[in-house]
Amino acid sequence: MTRKIIIDTDPGQDDAVAILLALASPDDIDVLGITAVAGNVPLPLTSKNARIVCELAGRTDVPVYAGCDAPLSRKLVTAEHVHGKTGLDGPVLPDPTMPLAPGHAVDFIIDTLRNQDPGSVTLCPLGPLTNIARALQQAPDIAGRVQEIVLMGGAYFEVGNITPAAEFNIYVDPEAAEIVFKSGIKLTVMPLDVTHRALVTPHRNDAFRALGHGVGHAVAEMTDFFERFDKEKYGSEGAPLHDPCVIAYLLRPDIFHGRFINVEIETGSDLTLGMTVADWWRVSGRTPNATFMNDVDADAFFDLLTERLARL
Ligand code: BDR
Ligand code: CA
Repeated sequence: MTRKIIIDTDPGQDDAVAILLALASPDDIDVLGITAVAGNVPLPLTSKNARIVCELAGRTDVPVYAGCDAPLSRKLVTAEHVHGKTGLDGPVLPDPTMPLAPGHAVDFIIDTLRNQDPGSVTLCPLGPLTNIARALQQAPDIAGRVQEIVLMGGAYFEVGNITPAAEFNIYVDPEAAEIVFKSGIKLTVMPLDVTHRALVTPHRNDAFRALGHGVGHAVAEMTDFFERFDKEKYGSEGAPLHDPCVIAYLLRPDIFHGRFINVEIETGSDLTLGMTVADWWRVSGRTPNATFMNDVDADAFFDLLTERLARL
């Protein structure tokens, strides 16, 4: 059965690979729409990049909506130091010819959830959670209609990547994250604890390049670009491919491992703002609200990704 999803995203090279993985899997995943949010780069670029990626995949039929251009109550923090000035630095890709879909991303999320059968749509946020939180604020009734939220964000044992305590997506809009984590919606979280195990080694990147088509090349060049930052920072063999973990989970949940635990978002402290306080050892007595992943079979993940990208 195909699973209906909305991808909420701030592309970002790893967001781009996640979108490509979903679009390469039409028998399993029906992408109802892509909603862009400000994050890695400002909204005009993320909403443009999402369309560049759809065109790269030959899928101009997928509607791309522009959403919130700033976090709920904070100034936007961006990550050009990782993703480059455009957010998609690396390959040279043409500007998109497809227009943005008319209307606001938040309205699209609300309308879709109201119009589709209850429990039939999964939300896949790959950036700051602003659009999703706004939708829940504007239309609380949609919470009961979401099948599941599978998101990339947070960290516990790996601690932070944008501050010593916080992962980027949660840090950029912690108030939005708090709304999502307290929404009561079934939540599956791909934190740095798992994404830091999905490293694009040279061998794995060669496999993308060896696909011998435009998509394979573009993906190899994207990861070539953004891995320079992580390799230097972590001394690792390659960069973590964060966001594709969300889509891979929809296709192969069996290759991920985690625990159903309580996760709270720090919104008050300057020092630890945006930290995902994950009760891994179940010591708080607080009610579990999220399946928080901590491991993935990386070989199976890259085999899946390469096999699916080959289909584009
Ligand atoms: C997350 O932040 C962004 O830079 C990536 O696209 C990913 O969603 C990793 O912390
Ligand atoms: Ca992202």
